[in-house]
Amino acid sequence: MKTTITSSPEEAAEYIQRGELAVFPTETVYGLGADALNPDAVEAIFRAKGRPSDNPLIVHLADRSDLGTVAATVTSAAEDLLEAFTPGPLTLVLPRAAALSDRVTAGLDTVGVRIPSLPIARAFLRACETPVAAPSANRSGRPSPTTWRAAYEDLVGRVPCILRGGRTDAGIESTVVDVTTDTPAVLRPGAVSMEALRDVVPTIREVDDAPDVPRSPGTKHRHYAPEAEVVIVKDPGEADAAAIHGYIGIDEPAVPAAFANVFVAPSIKAYGRELFYFLRECDALGCRRIFAQEVPEEGLGLALMDRLRRAASR
Ligand code: TXA
Ligand code: MG
Repeated sequence: MKTTITSSPEEAAEYIQRGELAVFPTETVYGLGADALNPDAVEAIFRAKGRPSDNPLIVHLADRSDLGTVAATVTSAAEDLLEAFTPGPLTLVLPRAAALSDRVTAGLDTVGVRIPSLPIARAFLRACETPVAAPSANRSGRPSPTTWRAAYEDLVGRVPCILRGGRTDAGIESTVVDVTTDTPAVLRPGAVSMEALRDVVPTIREVDDAPDVPRSPGTKHRHYAPEAEVVIVKDPGEADAAAIHGYIGIDEPAVPAAFANVFVAPSIKAYGRELFYFLRECDALGCRRIFAQEVPEEGLGLALMDRLRRAASR
C-alpha cells in the first residue's frame, strides 16, 4: 500500500470518509484514525497496528456538540470536566450510544471520548464529519509517535495517509477518566494532572490497576517499549556510561559524552515531551540500554513514571 503524506486536513479527511485509515497529529501523540461508525474501517486499525482486539479505542470529536452521536448520557461530573479541560488532553469514559460499533468499545457498555485542542486536529476532525476512532499511531507495544516520522516508521505501507504536523506538545497521552460512576476515577494518568482534575472534581480517585483486572483494558498490555532495555535510576551516577547506552533525566550525568545519546530535561514537562522520541532515537542509534531518571510522582510526573515503568517492564 502506498502511504501518502499530506499537510492538508481536508485531504486526510477524505480517506476517513472513504472508510480508510489516516494518521493525524494531536497535542498529545499522533493518532491512527478511522470512521468510528464504520465497523470495517475500525477493524482495519487493529490490523494495521497489530493491536489486541480486547483493547477499546478512544473516539475523537471536533466539538462538544457532537457528543450525542457516541455517548448515551453526560453525567454532571463529566460536564464540569468538559468545561474545564476540553478541548484538550482529557478522555472521558461515558455510557456508549447504541449506534457505535462493538469494535470501537471492545464490547464494553462505555466509550472513551476526547476532543483534541490542536488546531490541525480540529480542522481534520471537522472535515471528517464523523466521529473518529483512534489509538496512538504506533505498532502495538512500541513507544507512541510524537512526530509524523515516528508514525511513518511504524506504519509505512500499512496506512494510506499521514497528515503531517509538528512535534506534539505533551508527548504523553491523554488522561483517561471514568465518569460513569458516582466517584470519577482516573484509569490512565496522562497530560492533565491529578491535581488539576481535583481542583474541579475533588472526589476523583486514582485506580491502581491490579494486573489481573485492569479497569482500562489497554493498560494490561506491554507498552511503550523500545528495542533497548529501559532501566530506571534514582540519579545519573547509577547510569552505566557507555557508547551503547542512552541517558534521559533531569540531572546531568558526570560525563555526558560517554553515552551514545543524552537528554537533560529542563523541566518535567520537557522530559515528558521528549521521552518517546528519545526512546526511538536510542533504538535508531543501536543502544542496548537506556537509563531514565525517576521523578516525583506529582503533577505530570505521575504519568511520566507510569510510562517509564511500562517501558521498563518486559
Ligand atoms: O492522547 C491520547 O489519548 C491518544 C491520542 C491519539 O488521542 N490516544 C491513545 O489511544 O492513547 P490508545 O488507544 O493508545 O489508548 C487508549 C486507552 C487505552 O488504555 C484503552 O484501554 C483506554 O484508553 N480506553 C478506551 N476506551 C475505554 C473505555 N470505554 N473504558 C476504559 N478504558 C478505555
Ligand atoms: Mg497507545
